[in-house]
Amino acid sequence: MKPEVRDAINAHLKLELDAWYKYSAMALWFEEADLPGFASFAKTQAAEEMQHAYRFIEHLQDRDQSPVLPALAQPAATYDSPREALDAVLKSEQTVSESIRQLYAVADKANDQAARIMLEWFINEQVEEENMARSLLGRLRLAGEVGAGLMLLDQELGAGNIPGHNPDAAGA
Ligand code: FEO
Repeated sequence: MKPEVRDAINAHLKLELDAWYKYSAMALWFEEADLPGFASFAKTQAAEEMQHAYRFIEHLQDRDQSPVLPALAQPAATYDSPREALDAVLKSEQTVSESIRQLYAVADKANDQAARIMLEWFINEQVEEENMARSLLGRLRLAGEVGAGLMLLDQELGAGNIPGHNPDAAGA
């Protein structure tokens, strides 16, 4: 593996771990806001982000490279509303998508076929994750941000019905 690919994967690893940390903190806030279904959604996403981080770690290890675990910034602990939290989800996923695209370009330039194939899974995964965030924002708009509509959406999320999320697709 060329050093520039290894370094770019290690740099991206931080974003996956940041995402895990942000979703974990968001789950705590949802719980405090009496939205256990939203909290369950955020915990599921946090677990997926940790799986993503390990995909990168294991790719480096499988190719005899050393993963470097980064320092993580403290994530946001509170939000003004569920909508603000979901806006942060969409923004974070868009940032991860852009980083994956840049990482793919580095692997492509280095003619690193193994890295490219590994990254193709992530390109599909990010399409799904951005779609999920937008779908969830759409449902929140329809449900309303307070009262019975919000409670119904919370119950749906608690039952594992996450709009735009296909558990059989790339996210496993
Ligand atoms: Fe692993 Fe949601 O980015």
